[in-house]
Amino acid sequence: MKQLSLVLIVLSLTIGWTQTSQNSLTGNWASETPSNDGYIRKSYFNLKHDGDKITGTIRATQFFYTIKESTGSPEAFTLTASMMDGKSERKVTYEGKFVNGELVIGRRNRPEQPVSFLPAYRVPEGEGALPARIEPPAIYPVKDNGLARTPPMGWNSWNKFAGRIDDATVRGIADAMASNGMKDAGYLYINIDDTWEGYRDKQGNITTNKKFPDMKALADYVHSKGLKLGIYSSPGPNTCAGYEGSYGHEEQDARTFAAWGIDYLKYDWCGARTLYTDEEMPAIYQKMGNALMKTGRPIVYSLCQYGRLDVWKWGADVGGNLWRTTGDIRDTWDSMSGIGFRQNELAQYARPGHWNDPDMLEIGNGGMTDTEYRTHMSLWAILAAPLLAGNDLRKMAPETLEILTNKEVIAINQDKLGQQGKQAWKSGEQEIWTRRLSGDATAVAIFNRGKEDAKMTVKWADLQLTRVKTVRDVWSHQDIKAFGPEYGVTVPSHGTVLLRVK
Ligand code: GLA
Repeated sequence: MKQLSLVLIVLSLTIGWTQTSQNSLTGNWASETPSNDGYIRKSYFNLKHDGDKITGTIRATQFFYTIKESTGSPEAFTLTASMMDGKSERKVTYEGKFVNGELVIGRRNRPEQPVSFLPAYRVPEGEGALPARIEPPAIYPVKDNGLARTPPMGWNSWNKFAGRIDDATVRGIADAMASNGMKDAGYLYINIDDTWEGYRDKQGNITTNKKFPDMKALADYVHSKGLKLGIYSSPGPNTCAGYEGSYGHEEQDARTFAAWGIDYLKYDWCGARTLYTDEEMPAIYQKMGNALMKTGRPIVYSLCQYGRLDVWKWGADVGGNLWRTTGDIRDTWDSMSGIGFRQNELAQYARPGHWNDPDMLEIGNGGMTDTEYRTHMSLWAILAAPLLAGNDLRKMAPETLEILTNKEVIAINQDKLGQQGKQAWKSGEQEIWTRRLSGDATAVAIFNRGKEDAKMTVKWADLQLTRVKTVRDVWSHQDIKAFGPEYGVTVPSHGTVLLRVK
C-alpha cells in the first residue's frame, strides 16, 4: 500500500512536470524556411520565460541575436533582439504566438508589413548553438597568386537569380557566353554565388544541394566551352543566405573547390560577424588566401566584406585579387551611380592583380535605361572595376549585349597599366573623370548625373592634356575632330560621353 502510493505520487509529479514543460515556452525551438533544394535553413529560438518576461537568443541565417526586450505575454509576444556587427548594432523584431503548447514565430521586417509566421518545434538543448570560436591566426603576407593582371571579367548569378540558380541555368549561361560574342570580348568567369551549398558529409566535406547534382561535371562542362567556373563561400558558419559556410573547414573546402575544378572564389563575410570583430578580418581572410595557395590550383580570390576596415589597404596582403568596396548594388540609378561616383579616393589602391570591386553589373536587368546602363559600363571602365555581368545572358535585348560587348569600352577597362581613373573636374551634377592608359592615351568620361540634358565642355588643359592628336568617341565608334583647346558636346540626362584621347 505504502509502495503503491509512492508510485502514484511519482507518477503524478512526472505528469505534472511534463505538462508544465510542454506548456512552457521555455526551451530550444527551431523553425524551417522552406526551399526546393534539399537544404533546410533553420532558425533557432532558445527561449526562457519568467512570468511575462522572455529572454534568450535567436539564431537566424548569418545572425545571432540576444533578446533585449519582450512585450506581451508568452501566449502572444514581441521580442526585440540585437547583436553587434562590427561596430554597429543590428536589431530585429520577432513576433510569436504560443497556444496549446504550439509555437508559431516570425520576423517583422517593416512596421507596415505583415509577419510571416512559421511553426517552430522543440529541439534538444545545444542544437543551433554557435560553434566555439577559433582564434584567428597570426598575420603574415600571403604570396601573390599572379592572377587577375587586368580586372576579372565574367558573370555572376546573384543579381538576377539569387537563390534560383541551378546547374541547368549555369550551363545555359555558359553556352550563351561562349557563343554570343561575350567570350570573344573577354568575358571568362561563370561565377555561382550563394545557395549552391549542401550539408557536410561524415568526413566534413562540403557537398552541393539538389540544384547542383555534380559540381565537378559542371566545371568540366564550363571548361569545355573555354570558360572558367567560380564559386562562393563564407568564413563564417553560415553564408549570407543561411547556407553552410567554410568556418573551421577552410583548407578542406579549398581542396574540395580545387578538386572540382573551381577557378574563382568569392568569400563573403556574412556569418563570420557572429564570431569575429572587424579588426580580425585580415587574419580570417588570410586563412582562406593561404588555403587556396596551398591547393596549387590558380584560383582568383575575391574578398566580399562590403569595404569595411579599409580593405583596400590590406586586401592584397591576404592574397586578395579584388575586394568589394561597398554594400550590395541594386538595379537602380541611385544605387549604381551612388556607388560608382564614390570610388574616387580609392584609385591609388588598384593595380594589376589587385582591384577595387564596386560590385557586379546590373546592365540588362531592367531597372535602368540603356543610357544609364552605358553610364554604368563607362564608370566601371574608368574605375578599372571587375566586369561581372549580372543579367540573364540567355535572353537579353540586342542593346544590352551591345553595351556589354563594346570592345573599345572594354579595352579601357582592361588597359594593362591597371590604373584606376579619378575625377578631374566637377560642377554641380556634371563630372569629368580621366584614366591614364598605356600607349600615351587617356580615357576621358564626361558624365551628366543631372535630370536634364546638358551641354558640357571639356577644356583639355584642365585635364592636363596637351597636344591632343586623336579623339575617339568609343560609344559611337567615331573619331572626332576636336583639336582646338576644348571640346563641347551635349550629354543626355544620366548619360556619358566616353572618349579615348591620344
Ligand atoms: C551578400 C553579398 C552579395 C551576395 C549575397 C549572397 O549580400 O554582398 O553580393 O553574394 O551576399 O547571399
